[in-house]
Amino acid sequence: MCGIVGFTGSRKAAPILLKGLTRLEYRGYDSAGIAVLHDGAIEVDKVSGRIAKLSEKTKDGSLVPGVIGIGHTRWATHGAPTDINAHPHLSNDGKFAVVHNGIIENYLALREELIADGYVFQSETDTETIVHLLEMYYTGDIKSAVMKTASRLEGSYALGIVSTDAPETLFVVRESSPLILGIGVGENYFASDVTALVAHTKNVIYMEDGEIAELSPNAISVYDCTGQKITKPVSRVTWNVEAAEKGGYDHFMLKEIMEQPAAVKAALAPRIHEGQIRLDDFELTAEDLKDVRKIIITACGSAYYAGCSGRYVIERLCRIPVEVELASELRYADPMVDEHTLVLVISQSGETADTIAALKECRSRGAKIIGIVNVVGSTIAKLADYTLYTWAGPEIAVATTKGFTTQLAVLYLFAVYAAEKLGRLSPEKYDSLIRQLMNLPKRIQEAIDMNYQIPSVASRYASQSLFFIGRNTDYAIALEGALKMKEISYLHAESYAAGELKHGTIALIDENQPVIAVCCNEVLADKTLSNIVEVKARGAKVLALAFRGNTKIVSQADDVIFIPRVDAVFSAILAVVPLQLLAYYAAKEKGCDIDKPKNLAKSVTVE
Ligand code: F6R
Repeated sequence: MCGIVGFTGSRKAAPILLKGLTRLEYRGYDSAGIAVLHDGAIEVDKVSGRIAKLSEKTKDGSLVPGVIGIGHTRWATHGAPTDINAHPHLSNDGKFAVVHNGIIENYLALREELIADGYVFQSETDTETIVHLLEMYYTGDIKSAVMKTASRLEGSYALGIVSTDAPETLFVVRESSPLILGIGVGENYFASDVTALVAHTKNVIYMEDGEIAELSPNAISVYDCTGQKITKPVSRVTWNVEAAEKGGYDHFMLKEIMEQPAAVKAALAPRIHEGQIRLDDFELTAEDLKDVRKIIITACGSAYYAGCSGRYVIERLCRIPVEVELASELRYADPMVDEHTLVLVISQSGETADTIAALKECRSRGAKIIGIVNVVGSTIAKLADYTLYTWAGPEIAVATTKGFTTQLAVLYLFAVYAAEKLGRLSPEKYDSLIRQLMNLPKRIQEAIDMNYQIPSVASRYASQSLFFIGRNTDYAIALEGALKMKEISYLHAESYAAGELKHGTIALIDENQPVIAVCCNEVLADKTLSNIVEVKARGAKVLALAFRGNTKIVSQADDVIFIPRVDAVFSAILAVVPLQLLAYYAAKEKGCDIDKPKNLAKSVTVE
């Protein structure tokens, strides 16, 4: 959940490290630090709080001399977010500094052992054990000390190491945490995410588990876990630095909401050729699909809600039973999965620890895995049998928006593709669904354009507590709408299947309890309308979300947000957009830190 960067070259390192950390701040933002080597000594600057505080302390890095260094932005796991617990951590002899993303699970045993050997700890972190192990194993060969240290660590780590005994060389090693090397001209870099590298280079190397690398200004050498030198492919990043900047918007979240028409187009268009879906990434035959007895969708948070929504679409079109499971539950559920189960693993980051564990659990029982992933080269993309990239581009705001809608787009593609292969669609229905899929980017743009009044609606509805209700795909979107509201505006929000209210929850409804009713599924619209009438009868103010032209709803709800009309199976991808805007403007009204909500981080790499 933390972000790490490193630089070696002939330019001043500290300003480059700070800029890189700023781009990684979405990964964790409770403390930050840099370590830069100069004149044979390592200078460490670290603070609790945001990178801006560190930049202020070091005058944007200008006060820190040196052309090689490492940096870290933290999401605290072991030890409070204090200056002392911030990374980098230094060895007792001052020879090594380390930054770490991940968790060392056996750190307590290691800590006891190291203390018994006379090492003095400054912090409460798991990471500090690593730097003392390096000192312990170092006898003149840093790579060998790194390998010996790594062999003692259990858990997940991407480590960046600088040493006074290697004045031009950085060392890195990875296990279950993302790590990417950037290839420059006369300078090289490492980072947790390409967003920290694209300002300098588009040529990158994705490190795999167990690999170690040495980076000097003019060379990068990568070794496998036995120390053998290996040749790694160089990949080219396809997007520009502007994609990772705010581009005139107040927040990344708003920019990413506005990017959804383009992002959904990027997910869909390259896979639809002459009216036919072709999954560029792989092909499933009718026989493969006929062999599937059930589909399990697993994910966390919003990605799980994308799965909840996708389930209805897959079941409706393919008539294959679909179960949607929270990855954190599935991994320990002794799941009923076998070689006839197809598992769709959804993750924007591709690094979510619970989702990775659920994937491995299902794989061990013989299931085929399709990853629906945004971040290229991420762990889930590598572990899956097949990967369908969502092509949303970098998502920086902690609350996902375009990550979510592109997940839906890919689930829709998959559903139509599989239904056609299984012979469940008439040619006319298939053509009509394809046409509608192709039109979704335009419809999303309309859903944005026609809802210019949302800031004022948000200010009227942003009260202490909100209920979101809906049925079927509307319910899935109500869940996502409530999560968006909670995480960025800190308003209490609950989501209920509309028909479930009367089984207890309706006791909470009164004139102080606004209800947001998602009512886009036309088959069930009248049913949800009855629930609107029920809550209104108990005094609730109701904001409804419906298809343009739904006149019945206008007479019942206090306010209505409209979206363009589409086939009910695809309504969720439109319905979620106004709810994202509603949460955004509610949070803005409350003065919240929208892109970096409290206690959260973008990529949840801990259990
Ligand atoms: C909410 C949000 C999270 C993520 C969840 C899974 O806005 O972003 O709920 O959806 O942490 O993350 P990924 O998709 O990276 O596995």
